[in-house]
Amino acid sequence: MTNSWQDPEAAAEWDAALGHDLPTRAEQVDVLLSLLATAEIGDGAVLDLGVGSGLVAERVLAEFPQARLVGVDFSRAMLELASKRLERFAGRVELVQHDLAKVTSLVVPLAEYRAAFSVQTLHHLTDHEKANARRTRGRARRPTYATDRGIF
Ligand SMILES: C[S@@+](CC[C@H](N)C(=O)[O-])C[C@H]1O[C@@H](n2cnc3c(N)ncnc32)[C@H](O)[C@@H]1O
Repeated sequence: MTNSWQDPEAAAEWDAALGHDLPTRAEQVDVLLSLLATAEIGDGAVLDLGVGSGLVAERVLAEFPQARLVGVDFSRAMLELASKRLERFAGRVELVQHDLAKVTSLVVPLAEYRAAFSVQTLHHLTDHEKANARRTRGRARRPTYATDRGIF
């Protein structure tokens, strides 16, 4: 699937399944929202590494109505879906196209990041790339990562 993320049809198919292919997904997103609730996000920003079609971002933006969200993904197709899904949050969302395997060259908008998280994305990276991606949490005051391998 890794290379299919760039394919608009495959991206739309993944989006239509709403992440239900992962049985623990709902629980993971609930845990993520609970952790974010302790992060005093207020009108600060959160960084979503691998925003995809914006499914998790939508939940976060609805739950934290003053927060800004910066979503990073390397797939133009997924970012287009995210852009449509998150239209109603215009002004609070910025989407950045970037390969997280090269996270050290990632440039995100200047903001007070209160949390960084990643759902069902970092497992696509090699161990070395994952380590680099995790280091971006230094940009967030209370880093939170959630993947299908756990939350850390
Ligand atoms: C399973 S989807 C998860 C999307 C979103 N986090 C969610 O849970 O709804 C995985 C996402 O990771 C993105 N992705 C995979 N490898 C990536 C990489 N090296 N750099 C940036 N994005 C990547 C894909 O384009 C896809 O949007």
